[in-house]
Amino acid sequence: MSIKTATLNGVLTIEIARPEKKNALTQAMYQAMADALNSARDDKTVRAVLITGQPGIFTSGNDIEDFMQRSTGAGGQGGDVMEAPVFRFMRALLDCDKPVVAAVTGAAIGIGTTLLLHCDFVYVADDARLAMPFVALGLVPEFASSLVLPQLMGQRRAAEKLLTGDPFTPEQAVECGIANAVITASEVVNHARRVAERFNALPPGAVREAKALMRAPLREGVLHTIRTEAELFAARLRSPEAMEAFQAFFQKRKPDFSKF
Ligand code: COA
Repeated sequence: MSIKTATLNGVLTIEIARPEKKNALTQAMYQAMADALNSARDDKTVRAVLITGQPGIFTSGNDIEDFMQRSTGAGGQGGDVMEAPVFRFMRALLDCDKPVVAAVTGAAIGIGTTLLLHCDFVYVADDARLAMPFVALGLVPEFASSLVLPQLMGQRRAAEKLLTGDPFTPEQAVECGIANAVITASEVVNHARRVAERFNALPPGAVREAKALMRAPLREGVLHTIRTEAELFAARLRSPEAMEAFQAFFQKRKPDFSKF
């Protein structure tokens, strides 16, 4: 099982657990996370959600094998692109009406970083490395990061993160507003859990309404942008640029974009 879930002391923990592939996310894993988030909405015993990975790796992002299958049409992605498990997960995270706390250890790549933009609290370990290398993979940004990031940190710093895809440090993640604080790697999950457990002592109705108010001004724009990005992303997956990037990853070489 590569997504583990457990509810303890009012906190639903969603743990990404596929360390042999650096916690790369498959369609089944997105669906499992969507189901867990949706179940938290209806469960009165859950007061907050904690998302975490493994020591040294939060997630290496979408499974690149899965990207390749989708790029050749073998992934069976017919119909509405928004019905794919990855978009069900995005929707479930956006619709989660309880506080979501993330504890990031090690690498958080691609959706590993973009999902953080939609959490309420983000704690990054001192060994964390964040990156959104969509463009370097021949793709475009996703999960409304093309909207949220420039708003959060300004066009210039968003361009550094989204156009070059260069990794950035946990301190930079705090400085640009993606994370709340840097915590030592051995303590970050405990710290995040303590923050999540605080909601056992707070009034759930007021928390829910305050969260909805904070999210409301951007909500329509976020949903619209996710759909726009999704259509471009699906087309980019089939592009020769993306195919060169995916093949280079598995052949453990640098991609060559000089012919495009
Ligand atoms: N999709 C599929 N497989 C992945 C993966 C991914 N996103 N990330 C890692 N893996 C696999 C590797 O292919 C390798 O498999 P193997 O043992 O069968 O060869 C295994 O996980 C270990 O990865 P490796 O690259 O050897 O580990 P590392 O410690 O040297 O580097 C990362 C870790 C996360 C920096 C590196 O794996 C990486 O850059 N992954 C891809 C990140 C990415 O571009 N994601 C897509 C974002 S849109």
